[in-house]
Amino acid sequence: MKHKIILDCDPGHDDAIAILLAAHHPEIDLLAITTVAGNQSVEKTTRNALKICTLANIRHVPIAMGMERPLVRPARHAADIHGESGLDGPHIPEPDIALSPMHGVDLLIQLLLASEGDITLVPTGPLTNIASAIKLEPAIVPKIKAISLMGGAIGVGNINESSEFNIWADPEAAAIVFNCGCPITMVPLEVTHQALATPEIVARLRAAQQPVATFAADLLVFFAETYHHVFGFEAPPVHDPCAVAAVIDPSIIQGKLMHVAIETVSELSAGRTVCDIYGTSGKPPQVRVGYALAVERFWEMVISTLLSYS
Ligand code: BDR
Ligand code: CA
Repeated sequence: MKHKIILDCDPGHDDAIAILLAAHHPEIDLLAITTVAGNQSVEKTTRNALKICTLANIRHVPIAMGMERPLVRPARHAADIHGESGLDGPHIPEPDIALSPMHGVDLLIQLLLASEGDITLVPTGPLTNIASAIKLEPAIVPKIKAISLMGGAIGVGNINESSEFNIWADPEAAAIVFNCGCPITMVPLEVTHQALATPEIVARLRAAQQPVATFAADLLVFFAETYHHVFGFEAPPVHDPCAVAAVIDPSIIQGKLMHVAIETVSELSAGRTVCDIYGTSGKPPQVRVGYALAVERFWEMVISTLLSYS
């Protein structure tokens, strides 16, 4: 049985790789792509989703635009990492796929309510759409099979010392999602910083001389430059496909069940995922928090899927 998923994303270079993985992996049935403001404005992330799917000829998946700003805070984007377009670097042809007429949040609600409780949500951006859907229609919660999200950090953040970008961008939404009662896998920076797109990985993609693999390689080259410039990394961490990979093969990520609280009050650490590793809070564990990635298996999965677009 294929895993039915909805990818809720803010493309974004690594979101792009997540879309390409989810749309063509034989064990995934990608029901929809919903977009959210995050790496760039929702207009830009939506346009990027349409462009990626046009380039890769992904025409069977509805793409619906979601929330344009976080629940209570102003929108803040990541142009230093993803550029002004949200997907700077390679030249990408204009999209020729029609956007769904539905709002992303409505599409999430519609698909979940109509389901048999067999849909996994894979958010790879701020959690605004998922939280909005839960607020608007709480009856979706028991219909969500699981949530596999890229976000958070056990330790050091990336937008600041405390917080990871996706959770920091909309902490109030994250608090709703993390406390909704669904089974949650959190794929934090500790995992995604192991998914490094080294020059060898990029070379393997280029060697195929195929348009989709070449596009991915070009994206990763731009991503490598900004990650080097901003963080001094030698190779960029390809965060978002890790959350898709965790659905396809949960054993690709080692994790531990623990209570995770979202900091929403502090100015210094808003968006921090407070991970109760030792159970000291006494609060019931509700999140499987990843801490290690089977790196070789991950790249085999990603590269073989990207090459399957030929
Ligand atoms: C996350 O932030 C975004 O910039 C990436 O797309 C990823 O989802 C990493 O912190
Ligand atoms: Ca993202």
